[in-house]
Amino acid sequence: MDTRGGFSSRLGFILAAAGSAVGLGNIWGFPTQVASNGGGAFVLVYIFLTFLLAYPVLMAELIIGRAAQSNIVTALEEVSESKTNIFGTWIKKVSQGIGFWGVLTASLILSFYAIVAGWMIAFAVAPIANLLGLSYLAEWLTSFSASRNLLFCLLFYLLTMSIVQRGVRAGIERWSRRLMPLLLLIIVVLIVYVATLEGAIAGWSLYLKPDFSRVFDSSLLISAMGQAFFSLSLGVGTMLIYGSYISKKENLPKLGVAVTFVDIGIAILAGLLIIPAMFVAEHNGVQIYTTAGQLLSEDTLLFTVLPALFSTMGLAGYIVAIVFFILMTIAALTSSISMLEVPVALAVERHSVARKKATWLIGLVIFLVSVFIIYNFGELFGLVIAITTKYSEPLIGLLLCVFVGWIWRRDLLLKEIKQGFSDVETGIFWLIWPFYVRFICPLIIAVVFYNRII
Ligand code: TRP
Repeated sequence: MDTRGGFSSRLGFILAAAGSAVGLGNIWGFPTQVASNGGGAFVLVYIFLTFLLAYPVLMAELIIGRAAQSNIVTALEEVSESKTNIFGTWIKKVSQGIGFWGVLTASLILSFYAIVAGWMIAFAVAPIANLLGLSYLAEWLTSFSASRNLLFCLLFYLLTMSIVQRGVRAGIERWSRRLMPLLLLIIVVLIVYVATLEGAIAGWSLYLKPDFSRVFDSSLLISAMGQAFFSLSLGVGTMLIYGSYISKKENLPKLGVAVTFVDIGIAILAGLLIIPAMFVAEHNGVQIYTTAGQLLSEDTLLFTVLPALFSTMGLAGYIVAIVFFILMTIAALTSSISMLEVPVALAVERHSVARKKATWLIGLVIFLVSVFIIYNFGELFGLVIAITTKYSEPLIGLLLCVFVGWIWRRDLLLKEIKQGFSDVETGIFWLIWPFYVRFICPLIIAVVFYNRII
């Protein structure tokens, strides 16, 4: 009866969802934000907001997804139908609208993400070109140009699409399972290596000592909130659709905790690698901060500081560079497949398009958006990132809380969580969470926005 795909096991889901969560956001975005937002203070706020806001929203997505067994648009429609009242058809229309907004956001996120991921591939190839004596090629690979951006962005789309077209088990799950453990191993090895270098201590101290005076800074708060949502892949239906692939036998709140811990863990580890590495580079004469203490270049930290670091390592540096940027590509790939899955699942389920066809068609369209961004980089790149991650994701997250807290019938919600977690009613999760997503979460998100706008 059920022809939808699904994860084959609990570990399969955790690795796939963690694969989605762990990506450029953890390894590139998080350390960059830490470095430009006062070090430890940002780390502290980020961890706090992840548990306070992101985990509850993650649970909302997983639960809605598993209950509805469908993509975000259909799922929100169903939730809105659970309560029949005079606003019935009106609420249904709004739900559809919010669902499509999520799908659009997921697609736009992919459109900039693939550009950055393409740089990772280029930077992985550059040391090989150097080793082969093709320094001219290496120079092109590591310098900003539309042609380079275009070529490697396209390459990254091809990788993403070839995985997504295979479906949940053979594509998404299999590759996440293979790639995630490898990623962790490589990061740990690099941390240990960097820790032995001179200058690393200054990085450790910036990273681990919070400057408490900055903790309530409104721009730090909104950045940390955006980062928390982005990092857990929230607010666009990614976790919702992954939730729909989980077996009814699983305990959802527990799975959510596992994914959250893996995501935070990898971000913190990436910080332990990148922040000390920045200071090692500085120690070696690479300028990182301006004299005024501003991070020299926010969006290129990884691409200037790290290659500079690697180049001081002699021949071993080539190997480390190749490994590191392959690792980044892998991390990006297990995330990008989860973004593309959002519109693809919608097309497959709602419009009965074959998965292969949907993957290639939608992939092509989003690629064209990337091309447009590449040719209008200065105006569009930062803008698309800000609109999608800083504003869209938390706002949709807020609306998902409203769905679960106000629109969904409480007995149906409980029934869903009970599957795989039969004594949920007596536990702490059910005691806090429904109330929490009903009142507290929307309120906090709204206050952070309000503070920012005022
Ligand atoms: N969380 C991923 C990262 O940290 C990015 C990501 C994957 C994502 N899927 C998403 C972000 C959906 C927002 C929405 O890199």
